[in-house]
Amino acid sequence: MDTLIFATNNQHKVEEVREVLGKRFEIITLKEAGMDIDIPEPYDTLEANASEKSKTIYELTQKNCFSEDTGLEVSALNGEPGVKSARYAGEPPSFKANIEKLLSNMDAAQNREARFRTVISLIIDKKEFQFEGICEGEIICEERGQSGFGYDPVFIPKGSTLTFAEMDMKQKSIFSHRKKAMDKLISFLRSGE
Ligand code: IMP
Repeated sequence: MDTLIFATNNQHKVEEVREVLGKRFEIITLKEAGMDIDIPEPYDTLEANASEKSKTIYELTQKNCFSEDTGLEVSALNGEPGVKSARYAGEPPSFKANIEKLLSNMDAAQNREARFRTVISLIIDKKEFQFEGICEGEIICEERGQSGFGYDPVFIPKGSTLTFAEMDMKQKSIFSHRKKAMDKLISFLRSGE
């Protein structure tokens, strides 16, 4: 089984990614690799932040690894919160405060279109490869559901009537931005077998 380090401390992401990967590839989280670090996301694009995270981990471990960075891009807010999604309402990062700020900023918005965009940066033998996954949908006016994380309670993907927070992980993965990017990563890994 091939092993990759997944450069994240977000347990929700780890569970979603493990669900997609199945048994063929094993992933080790930063914690499981014995690293207690919070990697900065200093740049203004998802691509640059994903790169920063995977390169940092590769330099520290010399092991093949990947990272991902995701943003919620809302049309009525000119693409915001985007790269600032985690800390939209400031420090310390809070899912609840972020949703409150989002709904308040969209109070008067007729256009509720939004999308999640994930960028994965994979480093294999020092070379970097990137994969993108997009999930189109809309932001509703109130929170619904208890599952998931982040903006899940206010996001309905196109083709569903449920928010991500009303879905279990299997249902979310039918639509998920992260799953689409992971599928590309898996195809890439398999093409080298
Ligand atoms: P990160 O910088 O990639 O960790 O993600 C930024 C923020 O986007 C997270 O803190 C969440 O608020 C949000 N986010 C990322 N992925 C998802 C998702 O699948 N559902 C809901 N929110 C998400």
